[in-house]
Amino acid sequence: MTKDITLDVEFCRDHFSELAGDWVLMENAGGTLVPRQVIDRLNRYASHCQVQPGEGYPASDAAQTMIDEGRAALAALINADPDEIVVGPSTTSNVYVLSHALAPLLAPGDEIIVTNQDHEANNGAWRRLAALGVVVREWKMNRETDDLELEDLEPLLNDRTRLVCFTHCSNIVGMIHDVKAIVKRIHAAGAMACVDGVAYTPHRRVDVKDLDVDFYLYSPYKIFGPHLGVLYGKREALAKTANQNHYFVPDEGDYQRSLCPGGPNHELTAAAGGIAEYFDALHEHHFPGANLAQPERLDNMFRLIAAHETALAGRIGDYLASKPSVRVVGQGAAARRERVGVFAFLVEGRDSREIAEKLRAAGIGAFADDFYAARCIDAIGARPQNGVVRVSVVHYNSGRDVDRLVTALENIL
Ligand SMILES: Cc1ncc(COP(=O)(O)O)c(C=O)c1O
Repeated sequence: MTKDITLDVEFCRDHFSELAGDWVLMENAGGTLVPRQVIDRLNRYASHCQVQPGEGYPASDAAQTMIDEGRAALAALINADPDEIVVGPSTTSNVYVLSHALAPLLAPGDEIIVTNQDHEANNGAWRRLAALGVVVREWKMNRETDDLELEDLEPLLNDRTRLVCFTHCSNIVGMIHDVKAIVKRIHAAGAMACVDGVAYTPHRRVDVKDLDVDFYLYSPYKIFGPHLGVLYGKREALAKTANQNHYFVPDEGDYQRSLCPGGPNHELTAAAGGIAEYFDALHEHHFPGANLAQPERLDNMFRLIAAHETALAGRIGDYLASKPSVRVVGQGAAARRERVGVFAFLVEGRDSREIAEKLRAAGIGAFADDFYAARCIDAIGARPQNGVVRVSVVHYNSGRDVDRLVTALENIL
C-alpha cells in the first residue's frame, strides 16, 4: 500500500515553527521539537482546565479527559494498553522507581545483567542493587563492532539470572538490536528483560507485544512530545512490582499510582495527546480518506518515516566513511546491523567539543559529550577527546539539512 508513497517532508516541517528558522537541528537524539498539536493541547489544558482532575465538576472532568487522551496516545505509540503504562517524569526516574519496586523479589546471590553500552538511565539504578547482595554482571560491547552481540550475553546467563537490562538502540552507537531474539533467549534462561527504547522510538514503529519485553521505556520528549518518561510493563511483570507510593494508596493493579509516587505531570500528559493528532494529520495527508485503525495508521507513517530517515542516514554515513580522519562509532567494517540516523564520531587528533562548536557556528545544532552513556564512551576510548561529536536526524530533517551538514563538515575537517 505504501509502495509509491514517500514522506512529504515539507508538510511535516510545517507543523514545527522552529524549523522555519535558518538553522539545522541535528541534535534530535537529545530532544525533538514538538508539533503545533502538542503546543495547542498544552495551551488548552493550562488555559481551560488546570485544576485537580477527576473530581466531578466540569473543569475537572475536562482535565481528566485530556489526561486520559494523552495516556492513550503514549500507550498507542508502542502498541500498549493505557493501563500497562506508567507516565513519569523521565526514563531515568522511571527506572529508578522500577528498580526499587523489583528489589523485594531479589535475594542475595540473584543476578542482574546490565551493559556498558546503555545510557546510565537503564544502568546505574540496577547496579546499585549490588548493595542488597545482588550480583551485577556486565554485558560488554564487542570491541570490533562497538556493539552488543548475543554471543557475548550467552555466557552471562545462568539459573540465578533474574533480569537483563539493555538498549533497543544506543544513543551513541545507533545500531538496532534484535530485541525479539534477545528477549527470547533471556526468557529461555528464566529471566525478565527491561529494554531502553528511548533512542529507538522516534525512528521505527514499536510493538511491545510483538517484542514480548517485560519492561520497555521511552521518553516522549525525544518523539515529538513533552518532557516525560513512559514505562511499559507486561501485566504479569507489573504484578510483581511493590508499591512505591504512600502506604494508603491502593496498589492493586493501578500501576500509574503505585509506580509513580507524586503522580505524573498533568499538563504535559494532557499535551501528549497532540502526538497522536500530529501523526493522524500526517496520515490523512499521505493516505487521504483511508479508514484505518490507529495501529495501522502508525504502521503506515513509520514505514514512510523509516524510508526517509534511512536515505538521509545513508548519505551522512557515506560522507563520514569517506573521511580518513573520521572514526564513526559502530560503523567499522564489522558493522553487522541496521542503524537509525544517529551518528557519533571522533576526528583524529581533534577535541570533539571544538568540532561541535564549529558546527554550531555554521548553523548546525549539534553537540559533543558523553551524552550520559559514560560507560560506552569509556569503552570506545573517546574520553580523551572529550566524548564524541553526535549528529542525529529524525523525519523532519530534509535533504537540504544533510547538504548543510556536509558543507559545514567539509570546512571543519
Ligand atoms: C538512550 C537513552 N536512554 C535513556 C535516556 C534518559 O532519558 P530521560 O532523560 O527521560 O531520563 C536518554 C536520554 O538522553 C537516552 O538517550
